Amino acid sequence: MSKRISIFGAGYVGSVSGGCLAKLGHSVVLVDIDKVKTDIINSGKSPIIEPGLDDLLSNGVSKGLIEATQSTEYAILNTDISFVCVGTPCTKHGCLDLSNIYAVVNQIAKAISKKKDYHVITIRSTVLPGTIDACIGIIEKETGKKNGVDFSFCSNPEFLREGTAIHDYFNPPYTLIGNNDEKSLEIMKSVYQDIEAPIYNTEIKIAEILKYINNSFHALKVAFGNEVGLIAKDLGIDSHKLIEIFIKDTKLNISPYYLKSGFAFGGSCLPKDLKALCYYAKAQNINIPVLSHVMASNNNHINAGIDMILSTNKKKIGIVGLSFKSGTDDLRESPMVLMAETLLGKGFDIRIYDKNVSLARLHGANKSFLEFHIPHISKLIVDTDKFDEMINFSEVIIVGNKEPDLVERIKKAVKEENKIVIDLVRIDPLLVTNNNYHGICW
Ligand SMILES: NC(=O)c1ccc[n+]([C@@H]2O[C@H](COP(=O)([O-])OP(=O)(O)OC[C@H]3O[C@@H](n4cnc5c(N)ncnc54)[C@H](O)[C@@H]3O)[C@@H](O)[C@H]2O)c1
Repeated sequence: MSKRISIFGAGYVGSVSGGCLAKLGHSVVLVDIDKVKTDIINSGKSPIIEPGLDDLLSNGVSKGLIEATQSTEYAILNTDISFVCVGTPCTKHGCLDLSNIYAVVNQIAKAISKKKDYHVITIRSTVLPGTIDACIGIIEKETGKKNGVDFSFCSNPEFLREGTAIHDYFNPPYTLIGNNDEKSLEIMKSVYQDIEAPIYNTEIKIAEILKYINNSFHALKVAFGNEVGLIAKDLGIDSHKLIEIFIKDTKLNISPYYLKSGFAFGGSCLPKDLKALCYYAKAQNINIPVLSHVMASNNNHINAGIDMILSTNKKKIGIVGLSFKSGTDDLRESPMVLMAETLLGKGFDIRIYDKNVSLARLHGANKSFLEFHIPHISKLIVDTDKFDEMINFSEVIIVGNKEPDLVERIKKAVKEENKIVIDLVRIDPLLVTNNNYHGICW
C-alpha cells in the first residue's frame, strides 16, 4: 500500500530516496531550506548529478507523486512518515556536527504539536548512537507527546553509493530498521515491501552506528589494498593479479571469519608473518602505516585485558586456556601466555588450566616459548582433574579458550558471590556484562 512520506533534505540521499520512493508508488513531499533545490525538483529536474535521477524525479512530479517545499508544517501535516536526510558533516578535527539534525527535529516538533495522528520519524542521515534518544527527548519535551504512542523514531541508515545510487537504492544488501515498537516497524516494512532485500530489525543504537562501522571497514579495505599494492610493486608483482587470487579465498579472507570481537590474535603464523612483511617494507623504505600498526593494536588489546584484571583488585587468578586458541596446544605467541607473564611479574597468584597443554608433551619452539616467558610454569599448571579446585581457589577467572565441557562450570561460577569472571571468548551470548561477569568487548 502506498504511503505518504516527507523527506527532509533534498541532497544526494534525500532526492534519490524521493525519486525511488515515488517509483515504488509512494507519494513524497521533499523539504529543503534551499529554495533553489525545491524549485528545481518542482520543475521535474534533479538538484544533483546522479545517473537516472532526472527521469525518476520528472516522472514522479508529472504523476503528482513528488512535490518539494520549504514548509515543514505542510510536509508533516500532509504525510505520515518522515525521513530525515540532512547533512551530518564533521569538523576538521572529526567531531560530528548534528546541528542540521537538531534544527530539523525542532522544526518537526513544532509541526507535530499541531497534529493528532501518529507519525513515524526515521533518521536516514548518518548519526552516532545516542542521537535518536536526544531527538526523542526534543519532541517529547516540545509536544508533550510520547514516543511509541503518538509518534515513533526509527533509524534506517542509507547504504547507497553516489554514481550508482538508484541501483543501490533498489538493490541494497539489506534494509536495516532500528526501533523500539511494533507499530513503526510494520509501517517501515510496508515502505520497503517491494524491495527484494532482507529486512533486519535491531536496537536503535546498533542501527545508528552500523554505517560508521561499514564505512570504516571499507576505508580499512582500501588502505589495506593500497599498502599491499605498494609492497607488490616494489617486488615487481602485479598487485591486481595478487588481489584477484587473494579474494578468491571466501573461507578465511573475504568472509565473516576473524571478524567477531574477542581477544588478541596469536599463534605461530599471524604475528610472525605480519612482522616479517612489515620488516621487509621498512627495509625497503615502503611506508605502510596500517599494517605496521596492527601488532600495536593487538598488544593494546592484551593490555586492555590486563587492565580489566588489575581493576578487580584481586590477587588469586585462575586462567582457563593458555594456548592461542582452543583445540590446540600451540603456545607460540599466545596472548594468554603474555598475559600470564605480565600478571606473574605484577605479583599475582595464578593457576592455569588448559586440557590441551601437557608440559610432558611440549617440545621444540612451543616449549622454548613457554619456558622463556613463564619459567616456573610447572608450579602453576593445574592437572586436568583439578579444574574445580582451581575455580574454588580463584577470585578472578579469566576465560581464554572456549572449551564446551567447561562452559557450564564457568557459568555456575558467574553466579557465585565473590568470584569475578572475565570472558575473552564469549562463552555464552546470553551472559552480558554485569556485576561479576565482564566480557572483554561486549
Ligand atoms: N551522499 C552519500 O552517498 C551518502 C550515503 C549514505 C549516507 N549518507 C548520509 O546521509 C546524510 C545526507 O547526506 P547527503 O550527501 O545527501 O547530504 P547533502 O549535503 O547532499 O544534502 C543535505 C541537504 O539537507 C538540506 N538541509 C540542511 N538543513 C536542513 C533543514 N533544517 N531542513 C531541510 N533541509 C535541510 C541541505 O540544504 C541539503 O540540500 C548524511 O548524514 C550522510 O552522511 C550520505
